[in-house]
Amino acid sequence: MNTFTYSYPTKVYFGEKAAESNLPAELAKVGKNVMLAYGGGSIKKNGVYDELMSILKNAGKNVVEFSGIMSNPTYAKVREGARLARENGIDFILAVGGGSVIDCCKVISAQAKLSDDLWEFENDKHGFPSEFIPMGAVVTAFGTGAEMNNGAVITHEGKKIKGALWGAFYRFAILDPAYTMTMPMRQVVSGAFDALSHCMETYMGSPRTTNLSDEINEACQRNIIRNLRATLKDPNDINARSELVWAAAMAENGMLKIGKITDFQAHMLEHQLGAYTNCSHGEGLAVIHPVLYRHMLPEAAAQFTRLAVNVWGISADGKSEGQLAGEFIDALADFIKEVGLPTSFSEMGISNADFKAIADSTVLTGGCCKKFTREELLEVLNECS
Ligand code: NZQ
Ligand code: ZN
Repeated sequence: MNTFTYSYPTKVYFGEKAAESNLPAELAKVGKNVMLAYGGGSIKKNGVYDELMSILKNAGKNVVEFSGIMSNPTYAKVREGARLARENGIDFILAVGGGSVIDCCKVISAQAKLSDDLWEFENDKHGFPSEFIPMGAVVTAFGTGAEMNNGAVITHEGKKIKGALWGAFYRFAILDPAYTMTMPMRQVVSGAFDALSHCMETYMGSPRTTNLSDEINEACQRNIIRNLRATLKDPNDINARSELVWAAAMAENGMLKIGKITDFQAHMLEHQLGAYTNCSHGEGLAVIHPVLYRHMLPEAAAQFTRLAVNVWGISADGKSEGQLAGEFIDALADFIKEVGLPTSFSEMGISNADFKAIADSTVLTGGCCKKFTREELLEVLNECS
């Protein structure tokens, strides 16, 4: 096994009425000026805004609203939020939304306390911020698991890079599955697939032999597949939804990564696709995964075979490793079709105009079992068309 350190700073309040039951006590620990950050307004339509605002007012907070955080948040939006936080002497940020709001606030929390430009500070000077505005997250869209890690995926529009910036961990995350019931089904499916992808990308790293983290990972994958199917059958199935919310958090809370170096090559490619097209993250991954995995098959046969048998329930009787590995990719591709995710970029309205630039700017990961060249990533993108 690899050596590892494990510790977790984010407290999770999971379940029905988690905000009502726990937010007042958390708010009592922080200063008066609270930034309430959210996206395009779904929280105003489904009552979450009113509920949280009343808790904030009852706690005697002076609330400064920061709204309009878009999907695939931009660095310009981070700057706007950091400026607002500074101008208002913000003591605490309450981020309410999906991965986009939650990520944007992680970076605002750091940038508001830093005189350097955070992008340059982290990417060019290789620094890591040491001061943050404390934050809490209220998850309204599950999938990314962003509430339980300190990485933020931000699009720098000028540089055409969608990349990671590192911020603070949330002090706490409120995961009330009822808050996610108004998510459009398309977002439910793309969020669930993102969570499945996080599991697979972690699984495909090293060590590549059987280990505890991967065995837990297999259970998460089975859970996501089963509960996405149940949710599609009955969108009001709160138990299936609850399982998905927690499985998505588990996929990105470090537990599955214990002792592992992760792969995440599909994510790196999708992020750059997002930088050029602003596409849905989960949908981009759905198109990329099977194609990328067919390229990885020779190097990844043993891991794919385990996934075929342990996750997808494919019988190993009389089959070679190569055959089972291929059947895993087929099962994954069939599932993508079954749940209504796109299977090509053309279905997503994406042309091949920027494929070369996307391949050329994609991070080549160290954990992937295959060392992709930029030429082969370009082939992958073309095959995704
Ligand atoms: O903006 P509003 O009006 O709130 O609408 C949002 C948005 O349009 C809507 N929504 C959220 N909760 C809702 C709801 N609509 C109705 N009812 C609710 N309860 O959902 C839409 C999508 O939200 P968004 O936050 O953009 O989606 P997601 O959670 O998929 O986040 C995507 C972002 O997270 C990044 C992605 O790259 C992308 O930028 N990721 C972050 C990761 C991390 N930090 O760990 C890991 C991931 O791999 C990913 O890269
Ligand atoms: Zn993802």
